[in-house]
Amino acid sequence: MAYLRGLIPGRRAAPTADLFGQLCQAVNESGERYTDDELVNHVLFMWMAAHDTTTGSLVMMAYELARDVEWQERLRAEANTLGPNLPYERLGEARETEQVVNEVLRLYPPVGSVPRVTNRETRLGGVRLPPNTPIRASILLAQRHPAFWSDPARFDPDRFSEARAEHRRHRHSFRPFGGGAHTCMGVRFAMLQIKAVMLPLLRRFRLDLPPGYVLRIKPTPSFRPADDLPLLLTPIHA
Ligand code: HEM
Repeated sequence: MAYLRGLIPGRRAAPTADLFGQLCQAVNESGERYTDDELVNHVLFMWMAAHDTTTGSLVMMAYELARDVEWQERLRAEANTLGPNLPYERLGEARETEQVVNEVLRLYPPVGSVPRVTNRETRLGGVRLPPNTPIRASILLAQRHPAFWSDPARFDPDRFSEARAEHRRHRHSFRPFGGGAHTCMGVRFAMLQIKAVMLPLLRRFRLDLPPGYVLRIKPTPSFRPADDLPLLLTPIHA
């Protein structure tokens, strides 16, 4: 926090293009700027919301690909077909990679649940909830619920293929980025970043887990291996 606080005067004096710099310059309708505390809190939130979630997803994706040689080879083939220095406009062509990212986000949602408040009386699972009741909607449980997913605990990216499309069985069963007015702001950016890291990595390295490796999960602040995942990278020589 002291580090961020120390950067504020410089960014207030001279605008920078990064988000922190832009927040330091931003003014509201009354012409007021954010206070130092608000600026620090915004940046800390972004580190958690944007960085921890995306890196956690990348690590869990590496774990699943290291366990599943067939999928690792499928994505490597896709990465090689798309070629190096893939421009932004063509990242959408990495369809199988996207299926794997979705399957990782389904099994290990970095944000396990979202807070909500009822704005009118409702019934949920037979329970009456009066207005203004705080609830937590579990992304994790919905995404592993046997009513919506076949063999839910299994890593099976083909469930996101057009042919099976299990994620369309219910409009709230796949919600790794939340929903409604507060849907994640970084939903497209996160997918872009994951592809931009994973595709070149797979072109250059084979991913393996150390022999006998047993995954232990640290669920907070976002889902990731408790030991940060020891991964063996073997260079691939073309
Ligand atoms: C795999 C990566 C990510 C996941 C799984 C994720 C997930 C989520 C979830 C579940 C929420 C709560 C949505 C709700 O309440 O309905 C959220 C909110 C948010 N996310 Fe993300 N996120 C990711 C990456 C990012 C990135 C890269 C950014 C920014 C560049 C970002 C910025 C935000 C912001 C600003 C909010 C608050 C939105 C609001 O309350 O209006 N997230 N995210």
